Amino acid sequence: MNILVTGGAGYIGSHTCLELLELGCGVVVIDNLCNSSPESLRRVEELAGRSLTFYEGDIRDEALLRKIFANHAIDCVIHFGGLKAVGESVAKPLEYFDNNLNSTLALTRVMGEVGVKNLIFSSSATVYTAGSEMPLKETSPTGGCTNPYGWTKYMTEQILQALCVADPEWSVCLLRYFNPIGAHKSGFIGEDPQGVPNNLMPYITQVAVGRRECLRVFGNDYDTPDGTGVRDYIHVVDLAKGHVAAVAYTCAGKGCEVFNLGTGTGYSVLEMVNTFAQVNGVKVPYVITDRRPGDIATCYADPAKSEEKLLWKAEKTLADMCRDAWRWQKQNPMGYEK
Ligand code: NAD
Ligand code: UD1
Repeated sequence: MNILVTGGAGYIGSHTCLELLELGCGVVVIDNLCNSSPESLRRVEELAGRSLTFYEGDIRDEALLRKIFANHAIDCVIHFGGLKAVGESVAKPLEYFDNNLNSTLALTRVMGEVGVKNLIFSSSATVYTAGSEMPLKETSPTGGCTNPYGWTKYMTEQILQALCVADPEWSVCLLRYFNPIGAHKSGFIGEDPQGVPNNLMPYITQVAVGRRECLRVFGNDYDTPDGTGVRDYIHVVDLAKGHVAAVAYTCAGKGCEVFNLGTGTGYSVLEMVNTFAQVNGVKVPYVITDRRPGDIATCYADPAKSEEKLLWKAEKTLADMCRDAWRWQKQNPMGYEK
């Protein structure tokens, strides 16, 4: 089976390419490297002991997409490619709407032309309406997003659902990720954020390795057991395996289905810091600061539907996530940069 992976050089894409190669799939990647390095794909090939085909280019380039589909008999597309920084999306909304919506429009247009109608899309727990009851089910309310990034995910879901209504030949899985962290156990590939990390785990690892002085814990007055925010952290390799399960599901059926990819368990910021420090034997200095605007107290998934229909379940523990994140950071203090 041949899979086209858009955004395959990125954090989640690279881990998914590795799983696919290890299963014997043909893997074709398109990525414009706007937030990644070709070194990730080189390392994926080295780990897998097999090669993939890489096209450096933009998903919005329909001529390039046509060339890729002409060169390879693609069975299914996993669409990771997109911009993902929430704060940046507030500052540059047009860039986010252009990149994230037009890439999906170009991709689905060309897929329709060439008759490849199996698609998996990277959505996010951010599409769920704030204030909904926990755990979040796929049927929980969506919309009311608080930033352009979130709206691009919400709108893309609408576009793909409408496409499946209009043409019953399409099979689409919308995967709503919770909080992916960690790295492959080799420590050879991992998350390589540019600039100051926005997300908790890369910030913790950069403090632990000495790149940053101190973690700021955004608020300890939430209605949670220790007052700090609670999230559903999922190991990126579990997440990658969720995509492998989704490929099988997508290729076997028709229509549009939504799945949560999370563990179902929430951990607080302080639990994260303490587990990381303990399992790795390192210090993570932190200070409590004000809440971060837009943050909610608690967010975690009900993963029952994924378990039942995708036959997939996250298996790794929080200790695994903390160990693997640290191994990657320690071995690559400056990420993929040499
Ligand atoms: P990432 O930035 O590491 O990977 C995205 C990749 O897409 C990058 O390699 C980037 O260069 C590429 N890209 C972006 N726009 C492109 C374009 N127009 N043409 C070609 N390539 C393009 O991000 P990630 O963490 O691996 O996330 C993958 C997907 O999952 C994204 O769509 C993201 O929004 C979504 N997601 C991520 C998280 C998370 O916490 N990491 C959570 C929920 C959803
Ligand atoms: C972020 C994104 C969200 C995305 C989700 C999953 C923002 C505002 N939101 O949310 O759109 O769907 O990731 O990838 O970026 N924290 C600190 N100090 C830090 C960083 C984070 O205390 O330096 C806290 C946060 O307040 C939160 C928790 O850690 O309680 C997790 O934060 P983060 O990793 O940014 O994820 P989300 O807030 O879930």
